[in-house]
Amino acid sequence: VLLEGPRVLREAASAGITLDLVALREGDSCAVDAVRTVTLSRGIFRAVSQTDSPQGVLAIARAQAVALGVARSAATAAGWPLVVLDGVQDPGNVGAIARTAAAAGAPALVVLPGTADPFSPKSVRASAGNIFRLKVARATWPELEGLAGYGAAAEGAIELAGTPVHEAEMLVLGSEAHGLSSPTLRRVSIPMAAGVDSLNVAAAAAILLYEVRRRRGG
Ligand SMILES: C[S@@+](CC[C@H](N)C(=O)[O-])C[C@H]1O[C@@H](n2cnc3c(N)ncnc32)[C@H](O)[C@@H]1O
Repeated sequence: VLLEGPRVLREAASAGITLDLVALREGDSCAVDAVRTVTLSRGIFRAVSQTDSPQGVLAIARAQAVALGVARSAATAAGWPLVVLDGVQDPGNVGAIARTAAAAGAPALVVLPGTADPFSPKSVRASAGNIFRLKVARATWPELEGLAGYGAAAEGAIELAGTPVHEAEMLVLGSEAHGLSSPTLRRVSIPMAAGVDSLNVAAAAAILLYEVRRRRGG
């Protein structure tokens, strides 16, 4: 994975990720441990950076998705639902959800096909490095069969207040354009004022995950 910015690097390092290579822009510094550190001229740094406003440090590290069973065990042990992304396409949303999940205390994230790569530079940046605090697994619907869960949906659902989402084995968030891809999943919705179509998926995730946290006494 490519990491950019001092905060992302520090978060990754504090989550136990080994930084294989840190590249500093000439004149910048960043106090993180790395296997190797190099300094790049300002021009070369700008060329390799993937951000519009580079912050003077980037790194390459190894991050690995875990097996679904590992993510499930982590969620079960913590008494949290698995947070499942069903085709969430925007890496900014994937990263924002990972950041909120880590902040709320959810231990594990599962990405279904069609979801943006949670380890892409944009997702990692949007997560502010918190993606590394989660057990992340890639899975398909058949592999999740048998898990009792809820899919978040803007309509055609039971309202959050009457739904035991905190006891669910998984909480699924749908894609920005098409919503949930499973027609059989029980649905939960966050109430909205009349005329409003839907919430942004990362905003919906934040409300749901903090409701789970609140009901668990956090
Ligand atoms: C932008 S919405 C998708 C809207 C899409 N037109 C649809 O058909 O559902 C993206 C995702 O955010 C979540 N979401 C948005 N508004 C929600 C609400 N009021 N309650 C629960 N989840 C919501 C759902 O998971 C949804 O699939």
